[in-house]
Amino acid sequence: MRVIGLISGTSVDGIDGVMVDIRGQGYDLTLTVMGGTTQPYPVDLQHTICQVCAGQPISLAALAALDEAIAHCFADAAQALMDQYGPADLVASHGQTVFHRPPIAGGQTLGYSLQLGRGAAIATRLQCPTISNFRAADIAAGGEGAPLVPPVDGVLLADPVHSRCVQNLGGIGNVAYLPPRDKLLAQTPPVILGWDTGPANSLLDLAVQHFSNGEQTFDAGGQWAAQGQPDGDLVATWLQHPYFDQPPPKSTGRELFGWAFWQQIQGELAQRHLSPADALATLGEFTARSIVQEYQRWLPQLPDQILLCGGGSRNQYLRDRLAHHLPGIPLLTTDAVGVPSDLKEAIAFAVLGFWRHQGFPGNLPAVTGAQAWVPLGDIAHPLMPATAAPEP
Ligand SMILES: Nc1ncnc2c1ncn2[C@@H]1O[C@H](COP(=O)(O)OP(=O)(O)O)[C@@H](O)[C@H]1O
Ligand SMILES: [Mg+2]
Repeated sequence: MRVIGLISGTSVDGIDGVMVDIRGQGYDLTLTVMGGTTQPYPVDLQHTICQVCAGQPISLAALAALDEAIAHCFADAAQALMDQYGPADLVASHGQTVFHRPPIAGGQTLGYSLQLGRGAAIATRLQCPTISNFRAADIAAGGEGAPLVPPVDGVLLADPVHSRCVQNLGGIGNVAYLPPRDKLLAQTPPVILGWDTGPANSLLDLAVQHFSNGEQTFDAGGQWAAQGQPDGDLVATWLQHPYFDQPPPKSTGRELFGWAFWQQIQGELAQRHLSPADALATLGEFTARSIVQEYQRWLPQLPDQILLCGGGSRNQYLRDRLAHHLPGIPLLTTDAVGVPSDLKEAIAFAVLGFWRHQGFPGNLPAVTGAQAWVPLGDIAHPLMPATAAPEP
């Protein structure tokens, strides 16, 4: 089955899309990546999404318009893939998260996670069945609704011999810990761990936009940060954020590590007279050390290998700091084992959509904290022409 996977993550940089040929059943899958695309958001739309993510009030009418505009961007990305690689049987669209709140008080109040870019509009425009709203069913079952990618990482990236961490560096960082494949598959459900580790690019991007007066949106290759020196005291203070004390299951978003956090630390950076390069180095060091601290706190042991993916895997400064704090552990990208690092999240949603199509549960309760296994996503079907009314 040819499945298009689409996602825009917490970086709000644009839509990553992929077309994948998927065969098999459940966790026993064969995948062939036919091709991928990245379509940046129009600048105005990106700006509006970031404002909403930062908590700016929005009217329901404006929300409707935003939902529509995002749906069209996602449909455009899928259309570009279809133009290049041929028709698809299924579209799986994560949409754009604009709000994510984990469950409160151990699940007494359910979480809430809002993704815009409604599937029905995409299905209608593309005339292709579309799965969207992947997080709602897990959340209704008491889960975080995130992260959803670890079981797919288990299928795609578990090694026969070595334990691996697959570390995504999007706006937010998330990890999947994969024991060696034998141990992983010997158990039902598979013994995979996963959670959001904290910030990855979200704070770095905000700082770069600030220091470049909006001329740059990210620190290409981490070159700017590499010219600075991290401020160890600030990093140590930020590492005391209560999110890091919380054991998994846990998930986070720009609500904790976005605009509000950036506003709060700007004063601290200025007070210590850090140059822009020093500030970026400090944020990079914070990101790297938060990931390492999360591994040390919550993994049974450090992994044999780490596979990076997401845009932050192209930030050499971030990679150097991770390597520095994890001596002796090979740090690769998923490309090294045949999975394109910039498309991995989109591939994961293609697989989650495929599982939904099969009625197979896509969540891992041990990872999300849900009470149950549930198929993830709402299915929207393409329109039937009004002239061909369905048989009663
Ligand atoms: N060449 C690069 N050098 C450094 N950082 C990069 C590079 N390319 C992308 N990034 C970072 O990756 C982010 C996008 O990563 P992505 O995986 O798309 O995240 P998300 O899933 O949150 O959208 C950008 O906002 C930027 O911070
Ligand atoms: Mg992105």
